[in-house]
Amino acid sequence: MPKIGDIQLPEFPLLLAPMEDVSDPPFRALCKENGADVVYTEFISSEGLIRDAAKSVMKLDIYEKERPVGIQIFGAEMDSMLEAVDIVERSRPDIIDINFGCPVKKVVSKNAGAGILRDIPLMVKLTEAMVKRTNLPITVKTRLGWDSDSIKIVEVAERLQDVGIKAISIHGRTRVQMYKGDANWEPIAAVKNNPRMHIPVFGNGDVDTPEAAVKMRDDFGLDGAMIGRASIGNPWFFNQVKHYFKTGEHLPPPNMAKRVEAARRHLQMSIDWKGEKLGVFETRRHYTNYFKGIPHFKEYRMKMVTSDEAADVFATFDEVLEKFADYQFA
Ligand SMILES: Cc1cc2nc3c(=O)[nH]c(=O)nc-3n(C[C@H](O)[C@H](O)[C@H](O)COP(=O)(O)O)c2cc1C
Repeated sequence: MPKIGDIQLPEFPLLLAPMEDVSDPPFRALCKENGADVVYTEFISSEGLIRDAAKSVMKLDIYEKERPVGIQIFGAEMDSMLEAVDIVERSRPDIIDINFGCPVKKVVSKNAGAGILRDIPLMVKLTEAMVKRTNLPITVKTRLGWDSDSIKIVEVAERLQDVGIKAISIHGRTRVQMYKGDANWEPIAAVKNNPRMHIPVFGNGDVDTPEAAVKMRDDFGLDGAMIGRASIGNPWFFNQVKHYFKTGEHLPPPNMAKRVEAARRHLQMSIDWKGEKLGVFETRRHYTNYFKGIPHFKEYRMKMVTSDEAADVFATFDEVLEKFADYQFA
């Protein structure tokens, strides 16, 4: 069974992917309660952290109930990344993850995120120094390569392992692909099949059904799946996959009572974490996902996303539960 450093994981663990503006403490807690084995924070700027930028620092908040939890940082400047490791360590995460996969222009233009895939020696040097800086396990999340002509992930993963990372998660796309096309898991399987690899190799990209997770496990032989988009508005996805692994059958989709309960807890946890004003504001983006596909729902969604008072949003949840109690989700 896979281990990240000393952290023992179950067979074929399911990891919640780092997702900006999504993987915050309330969402991570919901995913954890519903079967995620490891959760990651969204990416946090090393430059922001060393300047004590409030927005970056707030992203370091983690809760006991989420463990094991990884804090993900990005950057390409050696001094900033090392200082960021020291700062992150004080939040006592279980894992520090390095983002070598973010494809957005403003990140890659500074050689950070997937930008570093154009400079493998720097990637290895930075990783080695970060591993040496801390006793916490360092993991890496990356993509297959910069573009389809430069897929050297087998060699890259081995070099990162040799400088001491404890696990690698690989998104089966190149930087140039961004999110287009299908994720290609073949090169990830090639990493796993390299006889020199001994750390866990987690696959990422397009695990959006329990069947896809089975395929990643059985046909590609990977050590676990990192799941992103399929969990948005569906933190139950982790248990849906686990149930399928166990029984070969699908769990029924969560009913309205479960969805309302999740939205309610999400909002309450956000308020407890950030206060009413920010909590109400920042949870708004999640409601569409919890209540997707319900006909004639617009009026209620509008109320949820325009109310400034928590009490009004909670009252709308009650109304929704009453009105749509018997709605059958597909
Ligand atoms: C809204 C959103 C935000 C993301 N933010 C991050 C991030 O902060 N760090 C990171 O490594 N990847 C980030 N990603 C990429 C995901 O972690 C993941 O690699 C990608 O979505 C593919 O997996 P999936 O098909 O399961 O969603 C983000 C993806 C989405 C959709």
